[in-house]
Order: sequence, then structure tokens, then C-alpha cells
Amino acid sequence: MIRKYKLGEPIDTESTVQDIAISSDIPKGFVMDSECVFRIDMSEDTRVYGLGETVRGINKRGWRYISNCTDDPIHTESKNSLYAAHNFLLIWNKKNVVGYYVDTPEKAEFDIGYSDPDRLFIRLNSPNAYFYEITPDLTRTESKACETDNPLTKVVQQFRHLIGQSYIPPLFAFGYGQSRWGYKSREDILSVIQSYEDADIPLDSVYLDIDYMDSFKDFTINEDSYPDFEDFVKSVSEKNIHLIPIIDAGIKIEDGYDVYEEGIKEDHFCKKEDGTPFVAAVWPGRVHFPDFFRPETRKWFGEKYSFLLNKGIDGFWNDMNEPAIFYSEDGLDEAFDKIHSLEGQNLDISSFFEFVDTVESVKNSPKDYESFYHEYKGQKIRHDKLHNLYGYMMTRAAGEAFEKLCPDRRILMFSRASYIGMHRYGGVWTGDNQSWWSHLLLNIQQLPGLNMCGFLYSGADTGGFGADCTEDLLLRWLAVGIFTPLFRNHSAMGTRQQEVYRFPHKDWMRGIIRLRYALIPYLYSEFMKAASCDDMFIRPLSFVYMDDERACDTEDQLFVGKSIMIAPVYTQNAAGRTVYLPEPMKMLRFDGDRLTEEADLTAGDHYIPISLKEVVVFLRKGYVLPLGKPARTTAELDLNDLTYIQFD
Ligand code: GLC
Repeated sequence: MIRKYKLGEPIDTESTVQDIAISSDIPKGFVMDSECVFRIDMSEDTRVYGLGETVRGINKRGWRYISNCTDDPIHTESKNSLYAAHNFLLIWNKKNVVGYYVDTPEKAEFDIGYSDPDRLFIRLNSPNAYFYEITPDLTRTESKACETDNPLTKVVQQFRHLIGQSYIPPLFAFGYGQSRWGYKSREDILSVIQSYEDADIPLDSVYLDIDYMDSFKDFTINEDSYPDFEDFVKSVSEKNIHLIPIIDAGIKIEDGYDVYEEGIKEDHFCKKEDGTPFVAAVWPGRVHFPDFFRPETRKWFGEKYSFLLNKGIDGFWNDMNEPAIFYSEDGLDEAFDKIHSLEGQNLDISSFFEFVDTVESVKNSPKDYESFYHEYKGQKIRHDKLHNLYGYMMTRAAGEAFEKLCPDRRILMFSRASYIGMHRYGGVWTGDNQSWWSHLLLNIQQLPGLNMCGFLYSGADTGGFGADCTEDLLLRWLAVGIFTPLFRNHSAMGTRQQEVYRFPHKDWMRGIIRLRYALIPYLYSEFMKAASCDDMFIRPLSFVYMDDERACDTEDQLFVGKSIMIAPVYTQNAAGRTVYLPEPMKMLRFDGDRLTEEADLTAGDHYIPISLKEVVVFLRKGYVLPLGKPARTTAELDLNDLTYIQFD
């Protein structure tokens, strides 16, 4: 059962697709004081799931999360906001299961046992939001394939039905991708492809980061470093490799640049109060932001992707769409004034930090987000009132265009910033993580929340984006990445190069990546089932063993599809780990192409040695794991040549 409440005059985010009558009262627990607080009491055994892409564990209890799409590359557990705003909570204990979706594009705070360990507070920025309360509807019938008796799954399915079917990528998007911010030219890309070929390691895509553009201008090509781009794309596609260019939100201000000139002429950019276009800065220096809230602007921007689609491109990643702002023109002027006023002074305990903060605070400044406007549904609305929707609307521009431009083809699309609703148009990657062991665990623990919120096509930068990656970390990360729909190795300029062929034990890495290809028939079909059943592709153990306390507390093992459980090693120098089996399972040990089906294990704890080159999975009783033959690319997979491993 879904109850919809309306508080104040909410903005329609278009994140839901079902019409639901509005209940006349206000949601239980809502305290309509000046702070707009919604309060829920939590018993000792209450667990709180959801919130999609956030820091910390699967059970979100014990921290304060703020939905406020933010470009912040340091994802430590002290942070409150990451790139996304996914305001769905699943609150449950033995007696009660309930889901809440707080639909507001403004900042929203979820204080889950932080200020009071026994209470959950939702604090809104303004008294305007739609609230949805979802309780398991046991009478709701699903098609046979989608049936479940787990109330957690029921609530997730009802929520997902409300927000519409998840984006489905093309098959090649399940292949392995190599990326790096730092590939400068066609030669760099060719050398990556050649090195993969020489090392006989599968590869489906190579990502083009901002350097493929001319001066970081969207929908341009740097002709010096990428001459004959179309030919290049074609020659690479003959090897079944896809090139996936990045698209940024900001449009460079430059006379003669057609996208900029058209944007000005046709009035597509966000404006300040006085009606002049808002000037921010990102990679190219000064930019304007397209007002993706206007259908005409979405159409205009979406059609621009055809510049690359017509050159043979069939996938994109949308970036910097929180939107990230290095500085605004106005903010920078103020900062320089401040710095000049400090010049020549004895910078002491307070003025020194004032100086440092002045520089630091020009970036992603709340004041800037309050200084430009959108035109949405006939109204002029200040950006901060819509902030969390910006990345969604950018990706929607692309998604809507793809439906028109190439209705018969699936185009790969994923974004950095997102809001619920965007899951219908694309997936997400979890942004600029680091090559840290703690971020490998974070990757594991972010997946269930993302799945609940509809972002089935998701993944992290395998190996970590920032910082230097070590061989053992990369091996362990690959062993997780092979189970995530988006499986892309990406790293930042200036960090150690982390293409797998650069490491001494590249043969071990080859073995793990080949296993990914053998798993694709299973992964893609489980993904399709999850998408069509509004279900999760990756689930915590509680979704299967809700009455098993130990299983519910286990946050480092996951179900991938219905048949297999994974229990990755995510600590440095560990030669194995303890795995908890809620029921007897069959253990499958993969070492390169060699599979050993090990003794069927009883329920309980088992210490399992897992070397750096191995991947271990656990097959559920009564289930089957189809395995294909590895291939160099997804195009070469033989989906009919499958072996079935069973445990009955
Ligand atoms: C942002 C993206 C990162 C990309 C970089 C350069 O930091 O998150 O993935 O490599 O920009 O475009």
C-alpha cells in the first residue's frame, strides 16, 4: 500500500510515474514546526536501509546524511553528502517494514540515530515535499517470475513500480572498460587497446575523458590529437571495442563555438536574477550552464549527442552535473578583494585560516547555488530550490534524445550526479573514489542502496580513481568489479597508472576478467529480470534470510542475482576471510579458467582461504549458475554455449 502526502506546495520532480491520490492528513510523526521535522522512533532492532549513494554501511543507522548533490572527491565516513540525492528509506524490524520516499529537490537531512540513537529525524529545507509511505502489500500480485514473500523486497518492488522501470544498457556495457583521465591522443588509446590485445585480456570499451575535446568544449573533437575521429571510431569498432566519451554540464563561453552561440541565441542558459546568463567556471574556465529544466533546452542539448552518435559512438558518461562549480565570476571577485585586504598583514591564527578558507570556499559555494535561476513548468525558480535535480535533468536530456535519435538501439549512459527518476534514463558511477581498501568496502556497501533506488546499472571506479593503486588492491577490486554491472577501471591524472597489463601478475588479472565474461550470460539475464520485476540485482543477505539476525548484520557479503552470494576479501594482506553461510551452500572456486566445486558447506562460519588470483562464489541450494566461455569481447560471447552448475 502506498500513501502519498503533500506538504506545502511541493515542486513536481517527475521522479514518479504512477498517479496516487493524496491523503488528506499529514504523515504520522511529522512535526510541522518551523524546522519541518519528520520523526520516527526506532526500536533497538530497527534497521534503516536505502539512501542510495552515501557513505558508511548498508544499515544507515548512526549517522547524519544530507541529500545535496556535491562534487567532493574525498569520500570519508565523516562526509554527509556525495554526488547523489536518493531520498528513499527502508525502515524495518521484526514487526514492521515500511518505506519512505521524500520527494523534494531541495536539501534534505536524514538524521538516523545521530542526535538521538533511538530516533530518526528527516529535516526539510522548506515545508514543501511529497512524502510517500510504502507498506508491504501482500495482496499485490506479481507475475510468477517476480513473486516474493520477503516484505523488504515487496516494499522495494512497490517503490520501484512507483518510480518506473530502471534503465537497461546494451550488452557491451557489461564488458570490461578501461579509462584514465590522462589519455591525451589517439595514439594513447590505441596503445591501451594494443596492450590489452598483446596481454590477451578481454576489453569492450575505452573511455575518452575531457582531453578528447577541443579546449574542454562539449561536442567538439581535438583534431590535433584525434585526427579523423570518425575513422578512428570505426577502426576501433572493427575490433569490437567501443569508445565512450565524457560530456560535461558546463558550456564554454567562447565566440565562434557553435554550442555556446546557439545557447545564447536560443536562450538555453541559466540566468541570474537580473536576467543575464550566470557565469561559473569548470575545466574550460568560464562556462554557462544549460537550463535542463526547460523541455526545449533538453531537446536542444540532447540532440547535440548526435554529433558523436553520427561518428559511430554508442555510449557516454555525463559528468560535473551536480553541477560542480570551481568558482563563479562574482564569487571570485569577492575572494580576490578579501585576499587583497589581507595582503601584507601578519597572518595569525585567525587571519591565516580566513585566507585559506577564502580560497577554498570559492568552490561549490552555497551562495553561488542561490544566485541563478531555472525556468521550470512556467515558473522562475532559484537553483538551490531544484539543486538535486540538475544531473537528473541533464541525463534525461540525453535519454529523451536517444529515444528519438536511435529508437532501436540501446545507448550506454551513466551519470555522476543523480536523483531518483534519473534511473529511467541511465545508470551511475560513484564518482571520484580513492585507491583505498576502505573504498573497496564502500563500493560493496553502496550497491544495495543504489539498487533499492533503481540504479541497477552502477559501479565504482575499479582500482580507485584518486591515489596510487597497488597490485593487491587492484586484484581484490577486480574480484568485486566483475559482479557489478558497470565494470570500469578508471584513475586520475597524476596517480599511478593502473591498467591491468602494467602489473607483474597480469595473468592473474586476466583470469579474473575472463571470469567476468564467463559470468555475463548469468549477470545480464539476472539484471534483466531485476529490471523487469522492479527488483534488486544486488541484495544484502537480509533480503533472503530476514529472520536470521546474523545474516541481517552481515554487511560484507551480497547476493548477486538470485543464485549466488559473494564474500569478497577487502582487507590488505588477508589470505582469506570468514564467510557466514545462512544455509548450506556449494562453494565454487575460480582460479583463472579452472573451476573447482568444493565440498558443500554447512550453514555457519567458515574461514575460507582466498588467494589474490582466486574468486570464490557461493551457490544457493536449489539454484543454478549458468557459465559461458570467456571471450575477448562481449560481441564474441557465445550465449548458447553454457555450462550449468547446480546445487540441489
Ligand atoms: C571528474 C570525474 C572524473 C574525471 C575527471 C576529469 O573528476 O569524476 O571521473 O576523470 O572529472 O574529467
